[in-house]
Amino acid sequence: SPSTASPAHSASTASTVITNIAALVTNDPSLGDRSPLGLIQDAAVVIEGDRVAWTGESSKAPATDNRVDAEGRAVIPGFVDSHSHLVFAGDRTQEFNARMSGRSYTAGGIRTTVAATRAATDAQLEANLTHYLTEALRQGTTTFETKSGYGLTVADEARALRIAARHTDEVTYLGAHIVPPDHADDPAAYVALVTGEMLDACAPYARWIDVFCEQGAFDGDQARAILTAGKAKGLHPRVHANQLSYGPGVQLAVELDAASADHCTHLTDDDIEALANSSTVATLLPGAEFSTRAEWPDARRLLDAGVTVALSTDCNPGSSFTSSVPFCIALAVRDMRMTPDEAVWSATAGGAAALRRTDIGRLTPGAYADLALLDAPSHVHLAYRPGVPLVSQVWRRGVPVT
Ligand code: NIG
Ligand code: FE
Repeated sequence: SPSTASPAHSASTASTVITNIAALVTNDPSLGDRSPLGLIQDAAVVIEGDRVAWTGESSKAPATDNRVDAEGRAVIPGFVDSHSHLVFAGDRTQEFNARMSGRSYTAGGIRTTVAATRAATDAQLEANLTHYLTEALRQGTTTFETKSGYGLTVADEARALRIAARHTDEVTYLGAHIVPPDHADDPAAYVALVTGEMLDACAPYARWIDVFCEQGAFDGDQARAILTAGKAKGLHPRVHANQLSYGPGVQLAVELDAASADHCTHLTDDDIEALANSSTVATLLPGAEFSTRAEWPDARRLLDAGVTVALSTDCNPGSSFTSSVPFCIALAVRDMRMTPDEAVWSATAGGAAALRRTDIGRLTPGAYADLALLDAPSHVHLAYRPGVPLVSQVWRRGVPVT
């Protein structure tokens, strides 16, 4: 039945109806086919200001100022990319070449990007960030989280977050990405810096705190100390967990009620059970396994255990240099045993869950009008037609952006 946005949101100037949508993914399971995607056929969506005001059958759509004919194509919520590393300079082409010749990925490559990032000006970092954001937006990403982690000094981490905060509300302090070369002899002193002066300088710009909990980065005890210090400063935890090896990251994420445990490539049955009994989302990042020629995370095992799964790009110059959520959806379906419906849900509603947001990742009255019109009759084509640029138009906060 028709409904309107709350009065706080209806001070909008213009309204738009998109009609003749062959398949509309709402992610509201009470709508349409009653599946998790809440798929409505022959649908319309009404946008008022920056919000969704109405969804339903195309023939019942209310009249509005503007009308867009979807011509039998599909509409989905904009992608919520809940894991990226976009404040950096330079690239790692040589390292990628070496890897594709047989060398394996290690955390150590991060140092190359740290050196390039420290040497860059603020303007260069911001131009780089804007470049990748524009790229992502054209491919349907309307919300993104991004992190520091390539500065690793008080000033360089704080400036990364200051720059990121101009472009997104979902900013993550990752001073604990690796122990930088300048602290190689004294990791404990670096942890003290990350939990002390650096945290004080970074907390004003960030919502989240993250740690790379991994061999060659930070162990479980260090990670607990860092995340606990962040919590005490009002930051909420998320964790790079169990990417390269089995380890304590996932259990720690659950223990600290992290919004998300990210990567989740090497999981024991206990890890899966801990996630299933928690509100911590497992964020899978298949671009990383693709670009490092690593074993795929087993999405099926997580889903069958009842874990909430998000799908994101991990876009960064080392382990996953893609900004394309559609590419990650195709990988997840082909190689991680997800169905196309599950992958599309995870890249939209799943990403929103990993950011503990209910105002994005769904197309229901009151949610932000962040949506993508596909050059395809169904969202399934995102996996079925890999590598094809199917996102033909994007609205962000009700405004057409492409
Ligand atoms: O999520 N795993 C740690 N951090 C990144 C890689 C960063 C890099 O190699 O520059 C990741 O994969
Ligand atoms: Fe990452």
